[in-house]
Amino acid sequence: MNEVAKERFNNFRKLVEKSLDKYIEVFYPESIYESMRYSLLAGGKRLRPVLAIETASLFNVDIECVMPMACAIEMLHCQSLIHDDLPCMDNDDYRRGKLSNHKVFGEATATLAGDALLSFAPKMVIDKIPKTISAEVILKLLNEFFIAAGVDGIISGQIVDIDSEKKKISKKTLDFIYEYKTAKLFKLAIRTGAILGRADEKLLEELTLFAQYYGHAFQIYDDILDVTSTLEELGKTPGKDISVEKSTYVSMFGLDEAKKQVIFLCNQACDILKNNKINSVIFEGVVSDLSEGIKKCS
Ligand code: IPE
Ligand code: IPE
Ligand code: MG
Ligand code: MG
Ligand code: MG
Repeated sequence: MNEVAKERFNNFRKLVEKSLDKYIEVFYPESIYESMRYSLLAGGKRLRPVLAIETASLFNVDIECVMPMACAIEMLHCQSLIHDDLPCMDNDDYRRGKLSNHKVFGEATATLAGDALLSFAPKMVIDKIPKTISAEVILKLLNEFFIAAGVDGIISGQIVDIDSEKKKISKKTLDFIYEYKTAKLFKLAIRTGAILGRADEKLLEELTLFAQYYGHAFQIYDDILDVTSTLEELGKTPGKDISVEKSTYVSMFGLDEAKKQVIFLCNQACDILKNNKINSVIFEGVVSDLSEGIKKCS
């Protein structure tokens, strides 16, 4: 990502951090709020909320209008990570450079903190979204949120991911996992900005396709980092995928082929930007972070 993109990304990221902190206060029973805040405010790249804000800005939507949905998307992402780390799922002790939620608060609280974030997020959108946004648009946004969060999204990706451990699966099944557990959330982020911006159907579909290519590239890159990176760099335990014989692009096709696929998908994503004259330093930046990052992985 170039310096201009980095600065813009960081400005948005800081605003997201501030809003997340403001949106979730601590009440009785404190332990659940503290567990929610522990994971939510533990860092993380804030990619999805920043992409939602960037997309909205392409349509000149005020940042206050997109912020509640942007934060809701980060809460959903955070919920998926808390549950993904549980012993019954990927069993990871570290997340975002800290002990994972269940290691600090216990499994019961971590499970409930995930559930709480999931229901808190759409309620917060209803409460905090500016009154200038029509009920019709709010319904559309919540519909998108529930698609990404539920069996039409992350849940189905996660169940097939878990069911595919220690098994030979087809490329079609692998693509299903990546689409549902990862790309759907990027689609939600980008479609949120576009819906708020009242993008026409054609542009909405093109932006969705951009999110799809980027989302698949992102997950393959994450799988590559699992075999090439360290706990310090990742903030989560490397080597997890091999240890449970997870079906990933790397385990099925090898590291070199996985890298090639990331480059291919990044090029596809860039073509969408070019063909539709979408000028965004952040879109270009996040894609180049993957295509450039891949060169340092060995
Ligand atoms: C991790 O996502 C989960 C995957 C889809 C691979 P991120 O790499 O965006 O995690 P954070 O938000 O920066 O911690
Ligand atoms: C991430 O998949 C998808 C989620 C819905 C959390 P991973 O299991 O590969 O994510 P990490 O590597 O634990 O972040
Ligand atoms: Mg997982
Ligand atoms: Mg995991
Ligand atoms: Mg991973």
